[in-house]
This record gives sequence, C-alpha cells and structure tokens, in this order.
Amino acid sequence: LSFVGFGNVGRALGRLLLRKRLWLQERYGLDFMVTGIYTARHGAAIDPAGLDLEAAIARAEADDSLEVLSAQPAPAAALDFIAQCPADVLFENSPVNYTDGEPAVTHLRAALNAGMHAVTANKGPVVHAYHSLSALARQVGRRFYFESTVMDGAPIFSLFRGALPGARLLSFKGVLNSTTNLILSRMESGESFERAVAYAQEMGIAETDPSGDIDGWDAAIKVAALATVLMDTSVKPQDIRREGIRAITPEMTRAALAEGQRYKLICSARREGETVVGEVAPERVAAASPFYSVSGTTSLMQFETDTLGRLTIIEEDPGPHTTAYGLLADWLNASAQA
Ligand SMILES: NC(=O)c1ccc[n+]([C@@H]2O[C@H](COP(=O)([O-])OP(=O)(O)OC[C@H]3O[C@@H](n4cnc5c(N)ncnc54)[C@H](OP(=O)(O)O)[C@@H]3O)[C@@H](O)[C@H]2O)c1
Repeated sequence: LSFVGFGNVGRALGRLLLRKRLWLQERYGLDFMVTGIYTARHGAAIDPAGLDLEAAIARAEADDSLEVLSAQPAPAAALDFIAQCPADVLFENSPVNYTDGEPAVTHLRAALNAGMHAVTANKGPVVHAYHSLSALARQVGRRFYFESTVMDGAPIFSLFRGALPGARLLSFKGVLNSTTNLILSRMESGESFERAVAYAQEMGIAETDPSGDIDGWDAAIKVAALATVLMDTSVKPQDIRREGIRAITPEMTRAALAEGQRYKLICSARREGETVVGEVAPERVAAASPFYSVSGTTSLMQFETDTLGRLTIIEEDPGPHTTAYGLLADWLNASAQA
C-alpha cells in the first residue's frame, strides 16, 4: 500500500489498518505492507520491504519529517514517488482543488498506469475526471474507487455499484455539509453567526477560511460528484445553482423554530428530461421532514429511484475515522474484484 497525503485522513487510515491487521488476516487471509508515504511538507519515505507504519504516524503527528524512515533517497516530486514506490494500491488523500482537481487527478492517473488500484477521499478527481479515470481503470484492469468523497465512509457509491442493480436514480436530496448544519443549529439557540462559525472552527470541523462551507462550495462539489457518478452525467460544481447560509440570521432561525420549522442547507439534484439540475440552498423544513432532526455533524441523504422508491441513509458522528473506513472498504472491494 502507498499513500500520497498523510494528513488527518491518511493517518486515520494508517491507524485503522494497524487496528484491523489481525482481523483482515483471519477474515480474508489478507495482509499488507506500507511501502511508501508522500507528503508536501513532511517529506516522503519508501521502503520496498515495508515501512514502520506506527513510527510514520507518530512522526507525522509530531510534525517531524518522514525521511529518516526511508530505505532509499525519497523523491521530492509526487510523480517520481509514484513511479518509484512498489505498491498495489495508492491512497490519494491530498487537499481538494475545486477548480480542476489537480494534482490529485494526475497522481491517480499515474498510479493506474503503474498498475495500482487508485483509491481517494478527494472529491476533486471525481467531479473533474470521473469518466476518464474510470475508463483508464477499466483499460488497465484496476479500480478507481472514491467511497469517502461524499458522506465519508457511509456506503453510497458502492451501494449503487453493487447492491442496487436495475435501479435508476431519479433524484436525491440531503444535508451534506456538517459545518453549515452545526452553525444553523447553534444560531437557533441564540448564538451569533460569527460566534457559531468560531465554535465550528474550535471543534475542528470548519476550516480557518470557512467560506467553502458557508458559501455552499463544499455542498456543490458533493452534489456534482453524486450526479456525475450516480446519474451518469458530467456536472461541475460551477453548474450547481448555489446559495450559502450567509443571509440566514439567528432571528430567522428562531422565527422558523417558533413555527415548528428549521433551516437546513439542502443539497439536491433531479433529472429534467435529458439533463440533471443540481441545487444547494437553505430551506425551511417542517418537523415531519426527515431533514428536520439532522443535527450537528450528522448527514442524511434521500435517494429516489424508479424501482425502490425512496431510500434514506443517515450518517452519525462522521470524522476522519469514518473516512478511513470508506478507504479501507474501497481497497477490500477493489482487491476482491480485481
Ligand atoms: N477530514 C475528513 O474527515 C475528510 C472527509 C472526507 C474527505 N476528505 C478529503 O480527504 C482529503 C485529505 O483530507 P485531510 O483532512 O487528511 O487533509 P490534511 O490533513 O490537510 O492532509 C493533507 C495531506 O496532503 C499533503 N499534501 C498537501 N499538498 C499536497 C500535494 N500537492 N501533493 C501531495 N500531497 C499533498 C499534506 O502534506 P503535509 O502533511 O506535509 O502538509 C498532508 O499530508 C481531502 O481531499 C479532503 O477533502 C476529508
């Protein structure tokens, strides 16, 4: 196994692999070795005989370089790392680039061309290169999987890929952005918008620059990813009609609550003829709606198919540990199918 990106998600996956090692051996007869890790500021390490994963996690968490763990001079460029690191799988978990998905798209393409499965939690490559990376994966007999890009480890893409043959997705609607959901919930109890944003930052949920969440970009890229993959189209985040939560005040949330309603940032997409229309916008939802009880960081997605009617998935208490699970599941599914 090899890693490009060893931040919150990469390290959580490392910890999960260590915790599951014995179980994976017993359950699937599967063992693993981490042969390389690449980061932007913490150096890189390659050892074809296997790196000490525990030491790598400890060093990255202490803000130390990984290079002392390397058995050979570690390349400075990610593409050289992918070319030189012997591995069956690349876990690509570098930061998301909303504009064109790079450099993750190039990393994943290089991994597939080198004969690796390409697994990522990064949404950029899904919205910007899903069709070309999937075609390349088919061509080289490997897999391009990305379960953790939407709703962390909750099975969404694998559900439609595996468990729902013959079901055509007509529309979906959900609450997908934890930061805005938390801010709206806090404003209901009287907190100002600024204080609620600061709280989300203190909790480690919102970024230092929270505009990606507040202005609906994170939600829009998730809608684009779901529509692109599950509705077989090609939708970019810029194509999604997008309205964030900046115009919602604590007074508005309390007035809604007094009338038995709550504000939620609703993400949706539906087929309209030959096209797919996606939207992100705040909505008042009534107590009877499944979205009403989605609080804090919980996510909920409701799918409407032509054969199974409505199907709803709720994910509680997500975080890097559940994102790591999605990556593990992708690796296990890819290994089982290849
Ligand atoms: N956090 C979550 O729960 C979650 C959930 C779903 C999806 N995701 C997605 O998962 C990915 C990783 O998230 P994270 O929270 O782990 O981020 P993070 O903590 O910021 O870690 C990013 C990692 O990527 C490395 N990196 C930065 N620029 C790079 C580049 N140009 N090439 C290669 N590596 C680079 C960083 O190196 P340094 O360590 O040297 O800085 C770091 O190791 C993101 O795309 C994110 O959107 C995260």
